[in-house]
Amino acid sequence: NLSLNPSSNGNASNAKPSAKQPFFIGVAGGTASGKTTVCNMIISQLRDQRVVLVNQDSFYHSLDAEKLKRVHEYNFDHPEAFDTELLLSCMEHLKRGKAVSIPNYDFKTHQAIEPTRKVIQSESQLTRFPALLLVNPPDIIILEGILVLHDPRVRDLMNMKIFVDTGYLYPFVLIVTNLILGVGSNYLAINSTSADSDVRLSRRIQRDTVERGRNIENVLDQYARFVKPSFEEFILPSKKYADIIIPRGGDNDVAIDLIVQHIHTKLGQHELCKIYPNIVVIHSTFQI
Ligand code: ADP
Ligand code: C5P
Repeated sequence: NLSLNPSSNGNASNAKPSAKQPFFIGVAGGTASGKTTVCNMIISQLRDQRVVLVNQDSFYHSLDAEKLKRVHEYNFDHPEAFDTELLLSCMEHLKRGKAVSIPNYDFKTHQAIEPTRKVIQSESQLTRFPALLLVNPPDIIILEGILVLHDPRVRDLMNMKIFVDTGYLYPFVLIVTNLILGVGSNYLAINSTSADSDVRLSRRIQRDTVERGRNIENVLDQYARFVKPSFEEFILPSKKYADIIIPRGGDNDVAIDLIVQHIHTKLGQHELCKIYPNIVVIHSTFQI
């Protein structure tokens, strides 16, 4: 179930963890592939370590008034949509054990929100402070996002690179989705070989209309104009840098178990394990 990537150019684990540095994991994959789900599953099994989860979305450039007027022509799936210099600097600081301020991002206004320093001590606090901030030196840093394996400088910081694949959806699920959403079959391809991108698109329609304040027409238009082409041009080619490819995302318990086992082994080897549970999430999905 866990695919060790044979084409990762022998670059697996470029950055060797040192006794003083946190173990840095990158989790990439297409939109709605299950990256967040996989990260949460990994974190839930790492209860004895301090984990910081950083979302690449936190580093989206804010749109100015001019760009906001033409937001439907903006490609949020292009590498230049992100402030990669800031991301790199934050990740380098975190890796050196320094505290950083990371912006929050609002998908409804397409703007960064000033960070509020907030140290999350328990899972119950996570629900009270969804848009947080932190940070004390963690044992493990997880950076999650569509393009976290794209830039070589970011990749080089990582000790483990993961790519999340989605899997397949039975045709009847697509048909039901289509009926519920009331969109025509020209939008969702209904055939017996519905692929990874169909699953992600149907999840994205659901999520963006419910959580990100979008309407179906805009989601489909953005998907066809920018999301799919950029996936093919930038995200899919970054899969070759992954050490591990997880088929079926969060449904793949075996893959998650093996990854967690590997992290425990690495942390044990470098004597980084500490016995104080603490989860810190730096996330960007700020809801208004
Ligand atoms: P990403 O972080 O890659 O955008 P998420 O993990 O947030 O993806 O998942 C996107 C949406 O798909 C969410 O609404 C989530 O609940 C749903 N989802 C994720 N994994 C699965 C799965 N294995 N089966 C069904 N729905 C899933
Ligand atoms: O959570 P997920 O990985 O899907 O988030 C990335 C997606 O968010 C990108 O595919 C991009 O199209 C979308 N996005 C958006 N509006 C923004 C910022 C990102 O639709 N303002």
